[in-house]
Amino acid sequence: MLASLARVCCLLCALLAGAAWGQGSAEQGFRLMASVSGGNCVACHALPDQKGTVSTFAPSLAHVGKRYTTEELRQWVTDARQIKPDTLMPPFGTTAGTHSAVVSQSILSAEDIANVVAALQTLR
Ligand code: HEC
Repeated sequence: MLASLARVCCLLCALLAGAAWGQGSAEQGFRLMASVSGGNCVACHALPDQKGTVSTFAPSLAHVGKRYTTEELRQWVTDARQIKPDTLMPPFGTTAGTHSAVVSQSILSAEDIANVVAALQTLR
């Protein structure tokens, strides 16, 4: 009984860890990128094959999966200021150095960011 409980527990932990630090889900990532309460990346960036209003504020995200490594993409999303200190892209994975009265936690969780990075990697 105890052993099987432990086994289920291990399996759950492995699944959760996989979601947070593993490959991530590109499908979930694209959903977050287009969601106002998620990353809302489309407010600034164009996506390939995007329908409707397309922003030209920031560079298109077409081909970023070919131009950047997984780690570089994670850095862009987590805190773009580490790459370009004067960037207008918000840091999605940290609140360090930001001034907001309402936001006390990062916009995206580590799991969200893994999903967004998985989505970006498909843009080749
Ligand atoms: C407020 C506008 C804004 C939002 C929202 C935004 N970005 Fe950006 N992003 C930028 C700007 C501007 C740049 C270009 C870097 C620079 O010149 O500062 C950039 C650059 C990038 C780059 C590098 C592109 C390249 O061609 O080198 C990636 C990748 C990226 N953003 C991904 C994202 C993702 C994913 C999201 C959503 C989670 C997002 N961005 C949300 C403004 C934004």
